Amino acid sequence: MIGTANGRPISITGLGCYVPDRVLSNDDLAQMVDTSDEWIMERTGIRERRVAAPEQAMSDLALPACEQALEDAGMRGADLDLIIMATVTPDMAFPATAAILGDLLGATEAACYDLSAGCTGFMYALAQAYGMLAGGLAERALVVGGDVLSKILDWTDRSTLVLFGDGAGAVVLENVRGGGFLGFELGAEGAGGVHLWLPGSGSRHFDDPETFVKMNGREVFKFATRILVSSAEKLLRECGRSVEEVDVYVPHQANVRIIDHAARKLGIPQDRIVVNVDRYGNTSSGSIPLALADAEAEGRLRDGSLVLMTGMGAGLTWGSSLMHWTEQQERIAA
Ligand code: ACO
Repeated sequence: MIGTANGRPISITGLGCYVPDRVLSNDDLAQMVDTSDEWIMERTGIRERRVAAPEQAMSDLALPACEQALEDAGMRGADLDLIIMATVTPDMAFPATAAILGDLLGATEAACYDLSAGCTGFMYALAQAYGMLAGGLAERALVVGGDVLSKILDWTDRSTLVLFGDGAGAVVLENVRGGGFLGFELGAEGAGGVHLWLPGSGSRHFDDPETFVKMNGREVFKFATRILVSSAEKLLRECGRSVEEVDVYVPHQANVRIIDHAARKLGIPQDRIVVNVDRYGNTSSGSIPLALADAEAEGRLRDGSLVLMTGMGAGLTWGSSLMHWTEQQERIAA
């Protein structure tokens, strides 16, 4: 699916993120499984990751991110008319974590639902919220991306354990005076689903003892390096933009090698890429909003900056968006 914006400008007007306090270093993991800091750094670029406390579930991580995003947008929960939570680790299958958050935020007027698209969830949710605003169904949307993958990892499996971390990010979407989203490109290759899956997690396999993430790392690696490039190229072309115009590139934070490969193929210089996978590992749907929050904290998101985001993950799915960042003074609801 691909499309460009053709109505009133819609942009991100608030941003927030949260990661749990507990830091697990590569050396900590080397105490648990047969691995080393050297191996993890060389193959992934990950130095450490955050891990939720036993009592922390998805909504506990998402709530502070949502509160921060609302404050950044100068808004209250009651002002929202849509909350989409992108996650594969909801508090439970139902009620939706978005509805739990809606209650905690006082969003009494909002439609609330969860969305499952693996690590691409945040990008899918962003596109959906954009579509709801563009279609006039909503005026103020909260899009939350996050995962608590530590809860569904096999803590004896070194091939997956070292890659992932916990975290969440949230953005508010509103009509603005200028700038905002230029287009989206989303897709899925269901045939590749077997390369990254959670067997005992649904009606096909409720009685399956395999309740942990299974991954064919090499296949996912091949998919990721291919799709990050092709999705970005397609979207840039559709929007009539060139890669040279991209000021800030925010790829899914899975692995430094995957990011470097994509940036090299696309021709995006290092100083335009946002990388924080070294500190957080792969936080799935939390990855892109966490990276956006880092970029904003570092002063890299200026008014009009052309921002390219691409996510990819379980499904196998992917999604890109292109937008002009919108500064505070432009954030006046139309
Ligand atoms: N520590 C030490 N050795 C390890 C570890 C580890 N943590 N994990 C695997 N190895 C060993 C393997 O057993 C293998 O040993 P062998 O040669 O004796 O058989 C050797 O290291 C090489 O294994 P490979 O799997 O070939 O290593 P590779 O270079 O492919 O790197 C990795 C593995 C890092 C998982 C890589 O394939 C990758 O990054 N894949 C993408 C994974 C990913 O990003 N998934 C999520 C994306 S989608 C989403 O975000 C949900």
